[in-house]
Amino acid sequence: MSRSERKWDHIRFALENRQNHSSAFDDIKFIHQGLPNIGVFDVGLDHEIGGLYLSSPIFINAMTGGGGDKTYRINKELAIVAKNTGLTMAVGSQMAALKDNSQRYTYEVVRKENPSGVIIANLGSEASVEDAKAAIDMIEADALQIHLNVIQELTMPEGDRDFSGALKRIETIVKEANVPVIVKEVGFGMGLETVKKLSSVGVKVVDVGGSGGTNFAEIENKRRDKALSFFNQWGIPTGVSILEASSVSEQLSVIGSGGFKSGHDIAKGLALGANAVGMAGYFLPILIKEGVEVLQQEIEALHYELTMIMTALGAKTISDLRKAPLIISGETYHWLHQRGVDTKPFAQRSIK
Ligand code: FNR
Repeated sequence: MSRSERKWDHIRFALENRQNHSSAFDDIKFIHQGLPNIGVFDVGLDHEIGGLYLSSPIFINAMTGGGGDKTYRINKELAIVAKNTGLTMAVGSQMAALKDNSQRYTYEVVRKENPSGVIIANLGSEASVEDAKAAIDMIEADALQIHLNVIQELTMPEGDRDFSGALKRIETIVKEANVPVIVKEVGFGMGLETVKKLSSVGVKVVDVGGSGGTNFAEIENKRRDKALSFFNQWGIPTGVSILEASSVSEQLSVIGSGGFKSGHDIAKGLALGANAVGMAGYFLPILIKEGVEVLQQEIEALHYELTMIMTALGAKTISDLRKAPLIISGETYHWLHQRGVDTKPFAQRSIK
């Protein structure tokens, strides 16, 4: 199967992928505030992360490119949505265009449609420094994502089987790239061990890409003769992963992603310690089945919901929201307790 056929398979199966695992958001409850002392118009959603200024904490996470006209059209439409709503947007892995020049247009369209937007390049951890620089140049990117996708590759029939040297390559790219580097997962989460290793080689921003949303084990298992079904349940739920990652170092910026579907999920992700929230699988079917306008309306609805929740909590800024008191219960509490992450400060803190 060609790379471009595989790209289309991913989109087709992602559209069918039921988001039926927990992202752990149900275990999080905000503490109601009867005297928030602010109004809706006091709330601002702009925020800074790893040197990037974002007008919204929500961004469109990496999905596609490299699969000919169909992926060109998706990237073009996502770029229009990003421009009209002020969202940052990441493109899918650009390795396809580095291997085959004829695929460059499927990514370049994103910068063409949105000349002054914040756009993020994307490659896997097999990439060299030269690859990283070429991917950044291709779309004049403001940042670069390097994705870690061990479980996806192992489940993919034609996937990689050797993951050695990835941390060293990431270290070199962080040193040599002229834009911020974000290391991300694709739906299996990042735990303390992974984040500590990344932090030790100079990575300043991680996107946890936790489980509970798009499930690449299920997607790749559909493409196998004999499924590796144990990987379908693999991974660290997004809420847990945000908490583990943000406990590693104050210097590290954490992005939450994996299964976000509502303003309430987004507020919880930010309050748990994320500086921004990436969404992929939730946006894709809205765009493909209902089009640009409906996706834009949905993003405005998410901004509205987030503003309402922030008002209720007395949070004028995303930084305030990250201090809102909340209770962590259920399996998430037990997991964190065993992993040595203290949940009590979340319940006892306050915005002012
Ligand atoms: C992805 N994702 C992804 N990630 C990445 O770093 N490079 C890529 O090329 C792709 N390709 C891709 C294709 C499709 C169709 C989907 C739905 C997703 C993963 C994505 O960025 C994100 O990490 C996961 O999908 C988890 O987030 P959601 O989908 O649960 O919001």
